[in-house]
Amino acid sequence: MDFSTVYMNLKLRNPIIVGSCGLTGTQDKVKACADAGAGAVVLKSIFEEQIESELGKMSHEESWYPEATDYISSYGMQNAISRYLKLLEDSTKTDIPVIPSIHCFGKGNWIEFAGKLESAGASAIELNTFILPSDPRRTGRDNEKIILDIVSDIKSRISIPVSVKIGSYFSSISSFVKELDDRDIDGIVLFNRFFRINFDIENLKIVDGSFFSSPQETEPVLRWVSLLSPLTSCDIAASTGIHDGEAVIKQLLAGANAVQVCSTLYKNGLGVLSDIHGFIADWMRRHNYSSIDDFRGNLSQKSSSNPAEYQRVQFMKASVNSK
Ligand SMILES: Cc1cc2nc3c(=O)[nH]c(=O)nc-3n(C[C@H](O)[C@H](O)[C@H](O)COP(=O)(O)O)c2cc1C
Repeated sequence: MDFSTVYMNLKLRNPIIVGSCGLTGTQDKVKACADAGAGAVVLKSIFEEQIESELGKMSHEESWYPEATDYISSYGMQNAISRYLKLLEDSTKTDIPVIPSIHCFGKGNWIEFAGKLESAGASAIELNTFILPSDPRRTGRDNEKIILDIVSDIKSRISIPVSVKIGSYFSSISSFVKELDDRDIDGIVLFNRFFRINFDIENLKIVDGSFFSSPQETEPVLRWVSLLSPLTSCDIAASTGIHDGEAVIKQLLAGANAVQVCSTLYKNGLGVLSDIHGFIADWMRRHNYSSIDDFRGNLSQKSSSNPAEYQRVQFMKASVNSK
């Protein structure tokens, strides 16, 4: 049985990528992911602010986002660039593709760093992009343009594949993804799950929201992968809420080239990877498939005899039993 897949021109031994998180933040952890059966890893993101301030090209105090402050308090500021390059170089000693990730929210000198990642052996680069659309003076188009400009710039400077990991706050995800595709992006990760806030109603204060996803969160991803995979020429990695083999197969049926997992590994340990492999093997055997490509995309909107079902958003026809 052939579990291999091609994601951004990279041949992966299987479609399960460990997404960018603390589990890919050290060489030992990356090796553990590879030993446990990951098809590839995306390294913990380095922040644009770290790169810029180390390059001495930004007065970072004014520009930092709250995420960056958090990151720097846990990972430290000193020599971030050389430490990240070392992490990448050490991680490439594993036999799986290693994809560094840059958290970015503006076009700047940090883009030079992408060339260094390429030289240090990166298989591809993932851009972790997000601009919270909370500023009423900025239109959606203003925010989209920032990401599109970053992509055009970075694509003109490096020759390894580039993916963009996006959130779902777009008024028209389809048209935005099409614009990314037009800029020859190699992969799109749908979707990032960002840090959340919650309220403590006894002490009347803001607290951290849930760090980890629940399996139900994979449903919106399933819709968008089904809708977008036939529309784009770039590859798609599904992300968020994928906790087990069944969820992986659903995303592949929707047309994803690969999936990214994080929360389930935090919650259940790296052994989940072999459970997922076992489930996929068993399912493929039962359905007489010998390779991932035999069934990939078979439930995307394009392959469906009822494409309107993928567009349905209201509950009018649903029969819900209420007591
Ligand atoms: C502790 C933690 C750290 C994360 N750090 C990053 C990061 O540095 N860069 C990034 O792009 N995503 C980061 N993520 C988001 C994950 O890569 C992933 O997109 C998200 O958790 C949804 O996938 P999941 O449902 O499999 O957890 C982080 C997630 C967690 C839980």
